Amino acid sequence: MKKIVITGGCGFIGVNLIRFLLTNDEEISIRILDNLSVGQPEDLARVCKFNRWKDDNPSQWKAGGVFLVTGDIRDFDLSLQVCQGADVIVHLAANTGVIPSIEDPRKDCELNVLGTFNYLESARQQGVARFILASSGAPLGEQIPPIHEEMVPRPISPYGASKLCGEAYCSAFHGSYGLETVCLRFGNVYGPYSYHKGSVVAKFIKHLLADEPLPIYGDGNQTRDFIYVDDLARAVWLSMSAPDIGGQVFQIATHREHTVAEVAEMLNELARNLLGKKGLIIHENARKGEVLRNFSDIGKAKKLLGWEPRWNLSQGLENTFKWFVEQKG
Ligand SMILES: NC(=O)c1ccc[n+]([C@@H]2O[C@H](COP(=O)([O-])OP(=O)(O)OC[C@H]3O[C@@H](n4cnc5c(N)ncnc54)[C@H](O)[C@@H]3O)[C@@H](O)[C@H]2O)c1
Repeated sequence: MKKIVITGGCGFIGVNLIRFLLTNDEEISIRILDNLSVGQPEDLARVCKFNRWKDDNPSQWKAGGVFLVTGDIRDFDLSLQVCQGADVIVHLAANTGVIPSIEDPRKDCELNVLGTFNYLESARQQGVARFILASSGAPLGEQIPPIHEEMVPRPISPYGASKLCGEAYCSAFHGSYGLETVCLRFGNVYGPYSYHKGSVVAKFIKHLLADEPLPIYGDGNQTRDFIYVDDLARAVWLSMSAPDIGGQVFQIATHREHTVAEVAEMLNELARNLLGKKGLIIHENARKGEVLRNFSDIGKAKKLLGWEPRWNLSQGLENTFKWFVEQKG
């Protein structure tokens, strides 16, 4: 049985990952640590049955069992308890996103640097074998795409800097203590259970369903690499057991570039076909700290993880759109 700690497990990626793991792997036990600042137990309850974790019995692990611990990643004593007996830590909890990091860089640093350090240090002290960090393309900053693992990082936002710092500590804990750290730099993830997200796909769908215009920052020609959350969950799952990848960084995306305007048009078409609606597009000022073009070379993940995405953008958007419609109805 594999015993997995997932921080931030009630959030968008966490809930999808847990659904994926429980569907694909019977021999796992999951312990979630989340402060419920964003994700909610109700979100988790939609994908699994879970129990509240009792801190007087921290060693409880059960095949197929899911336990929720409510707490903060900045609480080191709690992280030590949560990680006791674990084989793998998937560290998702974070200050997520560029804009919040620009608004409050100190909070971003405390969560993404110290929070990550706490779970690395707990992994070391508790003898956890593998630590998977949810990173992002943001550490690389403005580069000529496709971005890849060999590029020199030059973050242009506090979020990029704090994620890069997390990657640096992963490298150090691998080098100094032999902890098998794996940093996964996610592309722009979209999919079901993203109702609370401000990312472009979730935001556009919410606006379409509320009959509000779709706000595009700048001219809409900025590009992103959009990855469907099921593909991402499979990459995380493979990273838990792939051999000889300690200390490595991987770009986890699709190697495809789509403009934000293109995504708005694809979602508009879905709204027209499925609901007979048509959204209005409005342009707002471009935002500082965001890169203009972004997509990833995923050759290393293909080679070392044996992973590649299976969903294309139109299938993934349709699935996501339908999920949002079902929630409304
Ligand atoms: N969604 C994306 O497109 C994307 C892209 C690149 C990287 N990432 C990274 O993936 C990870 C997960 O992102 P997500 O989209 O699921 O975000 P999310 O906000 O949906 O989930 C994050 C979860 O962490 C919890 N959390 C936040 N602060 C916490 C704290 N101090 N202590 C304990 N729990 C806390 C929240 O309650 C939430 O449930 C993050 O590290 C993010 O930076 C996401």
